[in-house]
Amino acid sequence: MKIPTQMKAFRFNRYGDPAENQRIPVPEIGADEVLVYIHNAGLNPVDYKVQAGKMKMIFPFHLPLTMGNEFAGEVAQVGSNVQDFQVGDQVYGRPDNQHTGTLADYIALDQNEIARFPAELDFQSASGVPLTGLTSYQALVELGHIQPGQKVFIQAGAGGIGTMAIQIAKALGAYVTTTASPQQTALVRSLGADQVLNYHETYFADVLFHYDMVFDTLGGQYLKDSFKILKPGGHLVTINGLPTYEFGQQHHLGMAKSLLFAVASAPLQRLAKKYHVHYDFLIMHPSGAQLQILSQMIANEKLLPIIDQIYDFGEAQAAYDYLESGHAHGKVIVNVNH
Ligand SMILES: NC(=O)c1ccc[n+]([C@@H]2O[C@H](COP(=O)([O-])OP(=O)(O)OC[C@H]3O[C@@H](n4cnc5c(N)ncnc54)[C@H](OP(=O)(O)O)[C@@H]3O)[C@@H](O)[C@H]2O)c1
Repeated sequence: MKIPTQMKAFRFNRYGDPAENQRIPVPEIGADEVLVYIHNAGLNPVDYKVQAGKMKMIFPFHLPLTMGNEFAGEVAQVGSNVQDFQVGDQVYGRPDNQHTGTLADYIALDQNEIARFPAELDFQSASGVPLTGLTSYQALVELGHIQPGQKVFIQAGAGGIGTMAIQIAKALGAYVTTTASPQQTALVRSLGADQVLNYHETYFADVLFHYDMVFDTLGGQYLKDSFKILKPGGHLVTINGLPTYEFGQQHHLGMAKSLLFAVASAPLQRLAKKYHVHYDFLIMHPSGAQLQILSQMIANEKLLPIIDQIYDFGEAQAAYDYLESGHAHGKVIVNVNH
């Protein structure tokens, strides 16, 4: 594969600026990295949150920044230490926070952040797996340690995260309750949800109790009320909450930020104490090894990405506008080179 020197990239120059199609150099790879020619990129709310500057307290980004945090593509070049991948391999991945930018022709990333995707998927559907699949896996398995028969409540079952999390929780043998609009009940049931609450009519905390785990995706009052439905010893994992002191320390964000997080998350820690439950704030991390597990689940027909809309590269902003409406059902995908 002949690699050009310049490529297209959908990027923004300053926080709050609109993103636009720019020409930038194709990245060079290090010894442990691969260069991937991107076919498709999946979009996620974190993309527009980063663009708006909402994540800079947690992760300092280097601007200008190319949008996009997950992809499916073909390996175009491998570094001298890379043994497990070859040029032409069809892979998917989620790059680490300092190397975002999947709405571009090429991305350079560490070999440990990618995996081959199974033959059951094409590039479009594969590109919607890494970020939401890994987040759900890390919430339910790495932190939640879900066991067969346990009761799990997953907020917003029809969203990018919800559609993945329901399937993974079911594959683990859990009893799954979720929330959705009536129009999406059939979708979340088809993914395996045992109980579906119409969130326009029923408030989850009024009717659910004695759960082993809550996977909160909404934050705010939904997060606070999630403590009430857990049994003592239960586990609340949020991906839309406030970082904790431990989070700041684990991510080497410094003592000042860690203490700030401690103060901000103190009311949630108090709720955890009051209800005798465990509380975790998760920011997902890249992992090729966990992607391989997801690939196996897909090959075993336990997991299938749900695609809502597919846009061409020139329509990337329209794709983000649709996602930002907050009513996507499954994933929004962009054809980068398709
Ligand atoms: N910390 C992390 O590592 C991490 C990782 C991934 C995602 N996240 C965050 O997790 C959140 C969810 O991500 P996502 O990709 O799932 O977003 P998404 O796909 O945009 O979610 C949209 C879905 O949410 C549903 N929804 C909205 N309000 C709801 C409510 N009150 N009750 C039930 N369902 C509701 C919508 O259903 P209707 O159309 O029927 O209203 C729609 O299906 C985002 O804030 C994202 O930034 C964090």
